[in-house]
This record gives sequence, C-alpha cells and structure tokens, in this order.
Amino acid sequence: MAQIFAVKGCKDILPQEVANWRFLEEEARAFFGRFGIKEIRTPLLEKTELFARGIGAATDIVEKEMYSFIDRGEESLSLRPEATASVIRAYIEHALYKVEPASKLFTIGPMFRRERPQKGRFRQFHQINVEYLGFDDYRFDGEVIFLAVQYLKNVGLTEFKLELNTLGCPHCRLPFREALSHFLMSREKELCSDCQRRVTTNPLRVLDCKRDTCRAITEEAPTIGAYLCNDCKRHFIGVREVLAEFGLSYHLNHRLVRGLDYYTKTAFEITTPALGAQNAVAGGGRYNGLVAALGGPDVAGIGFAVGMERLLSLLPPPAASRETRPHLFIAALGEEPYRKAFALSNYLRLNGFYVEMDLPGKSLKSQMKRADKLKSRFVLFLGDKELLERKATLRDMDTGNQEVVTFIEGREEILNFLKRYE
Ligand code: HAM
Repeated sequence: MAQIFAVKGCKDILPQEVANWRFLEEEARAFFGRFGIKEIRTPLLEKTELFARGIGAATDIVEKEMYSFIDRGEESLSLRPEATASVIRAYIEHALYKVEPASKLFTIGPMFRRERPQKGRFRQFHQINVEYLGFDDYRFDGEVIFLAVQYLKNVGLTEFKLELNTLGCPHCRLPFREALSHFLMSREKELCSDCQRRVTTNPLRVLDCKRDTCRAITEEAPTIGAYLCNDCKRHFIGVREVLAEFGLSYHLNHRLVRGLDYYTKTAFEITTPALGAQNAVAGGGRYNGLVAALGGPDVAGIGFAVGMERLLSLLPPPAASRETRPHLFIAALGEEPYRKAFALSNYLRLNGFYVEMDLPGKSLKSQMKRADKLKSRFVLFLGDKELLERKATLRDMDTGNQEVVTFIEGREEILNFLKRYE
C-alpha cells in the first residue's frame, strides 16, 4: 500500500527531540511563574471572524495564510494562526477582567499558517505566548520586553538583537498612514507587485518589504516619528528609559511594523542573523484597542510570542544528561523466567523505578547489547537456575561489580536493593 506522509510544512517532533521541547516549556513555566503569569489553554479551532477582526482583514495572515473551512455549511472556522486573539476572546468570554482586572497570561502550543515552507518557516509551528491585559503603563512594555529577552537568555540564546519601534495610536497613525500612502502612490510603479497592492490596503507593510528596490524607495518615505502625538511620544520615551534601567540595549528600527494590524505604540522583535531570511525568534508589542474591538471592555494589552522551532534551531544540542537512563534492565532467559521478570518489572515501575526488558526469546548477548544501549544502571539476570535457587546476580553497569541478591521473600529484595542506590 502507498505510504502516507505528513502534511507539507508540518513536522513530527520525534522522541529524541521531545526533551528539548520540554526544556523550553518548563523554563517558561518556571520563569513566568515568578512574574505571576498564569497559564491559559484555548482551542486550536476558532471562528474565522475572530482573526479577521483581531489580526486585520488586510494582513497576509488573514488574506492568504489561514486554514479556514465552512463547517458543515454553517459557519467559517479557522485553525488559529496566532494565540493573541484567542486568549483575548477567552478573557472576554469568561470575564476574567472581573476576577483580576490586570491579568498576566501565557499559553504554549501549535499555530497554523499556510506560508511557503522554508528554513525556519513552517505551516504548523509552536509559540510560547505571553499577554499582559489591563497594563496601560509604559513600565509594563519594559517588563514584557525584559521578560522576552531574559527568557531567551535563560534557555541559552546568546546572540540576538532587540529591535524596537513605536507605531503610534489610531490618532497619530492615521495621518502618518495617509502621508505614507501618498508618498508611495507617487512611486507606485517602482514598487514590487505585492507592495503596489499594499499602497492602499496596508501601506505600513511596504516599509518592511525585503526587496532592494522597495527598500531604496522607502528610505525616503515619511517616518512615524514626525507624526507621534504627545501621549505616544511620552510613552515611547518611558519605555526606552525602562529598557535602559534594565540594562537592555536595543536598535531603533522605523521599518518594524509587524505583520498583524492590532499593534499600537510599542512594537518589538528579537532577531538573529543565524536564522537567515526568517530572522525573528520572537515578536510582540502593545495592542490597546484590541480587547474592545473583540467586544470586550476598553482594556490595554501588550504581549509577545517566541517561535519555538526557531529558538530550538539556535540552541546547542541538548545535554545527554537530560536523557533518563533505566535504573534496571532485566535480562531473562527462558519462558518462566521471562514471565516472572515481566511481572517484576511492572512491580518495580509501580514503585517508582524505570525498568526495561527486551522482547521474549532474545539471546543473552542481544539483551546485554540493549541494556548497554539504554545505559541501564543495573542489570538483573534471571534464568531457570536463578528461579530455582531464589537468588540472582545484579550487575552494576557503571563499576562492573556484581552482587547476588536472594529473593526468598519475593520481589521486595530487588526493590530494596534499588532503593539503596536512589
Ligand atoms: P508573530 O511575529 O507573527 O507574532 O509570531 C511570533 C513568532 O512566531 C515569530 O517571531 C517567529 O519566531 C514565530 N513564527 C511565526 N510564523 C512562523 C512560521 N510560519 N514558522 C515558524 N515560526 C513562526 C504573533 O504571532 C503575535 N501573536 C505575538 C504577540 C503576542 N503580540 C502580542 N502578543
């Protein structure tokens, strides 16, 4: 029969890789816990409208990258392309703002975007996502950025750049958008076909087009700085002061506009050249109008997401010590010894020990090979003779020492032996 392969852009995470994933997740849980950030888990499937309204109908994500379908002819559903809109939907739906007016939430899981797969870009990928809701003060922009940077450092990332920008608020962004659009229209013919479309639909996105010709044109384009209102200006100065207090260096990048429309004021990305064209390992920013736009109260928000595949590709291979080795391998020779060993292994597992065995009928040599491969600490030999004499040899695989254990009373002796070495 023909073999069936995974969907393009969707990767399996194999057993030998899982330790790395768990490491990232456990570090996140432990570190975020110290900031009082609580975990939330939302469905992977949402109403399409949530993302159209949340992320913006004119973004690449909503226009062409969502996995959407009409559910039994009734309503359009989508696999989530990001977590922010879903977390806010849940925050509003369960009135979490009543329980805790200022909520700090995180979520970890898969996202789906139908992008062209390439290095660092997948169709199913995973994010560690943090959202602060109800924190309007600029200090929390600083805290959230610090949190993202520090988390990456904690897990071992050493080379990266923090890029920072402000996108203003609806009041100051509107005139900026108009000025930019006006400028771009005057140079429209020189832009790439994607950017020609964006001139009217989403002119800010032209600023982060990677094509040389578009970049050369936008070098001369108006920048947001000149349009910022006093509130946005003060906020940005505040954020920069907090980052300086935290000792975080950053690069101002007026081209940083992000691919989602909900951002207001602060936007940031953490990038590294080691990732190639897809150079952002994390990105985020403030989104003050989003909760209200999704039908909730007027609550400010700021957050970020780390791309787990990208982060893992930047970290050194895992330490072998993270692999768990069996406490005991039982090498059984013969039908009855195997039956006894099978029961004994489960008894020891129930008592907290990691025990391995081979398949029935294997030679002693092949069983020892397997015990070696698994790096088992001890090996217990069980054959007909051992059962008859009610004593068996236990070999310490680290030292080569052997010890004979009598198990007159039963299996407790083996358990007690293992307990001595815990
Ligand atoms: P984003 O910049 O679209 O932001 O994604 C955040 C990170 O997810 C990226 O920096 C990247 O590391 C990773 N990522 C995105 N797309 C892919 C892909 N196709 N393959 C592999 N990794 C990818 C957001 O999603 C916002 N929701 C972040 C946020 C939270 N803003 C405020 N709160």
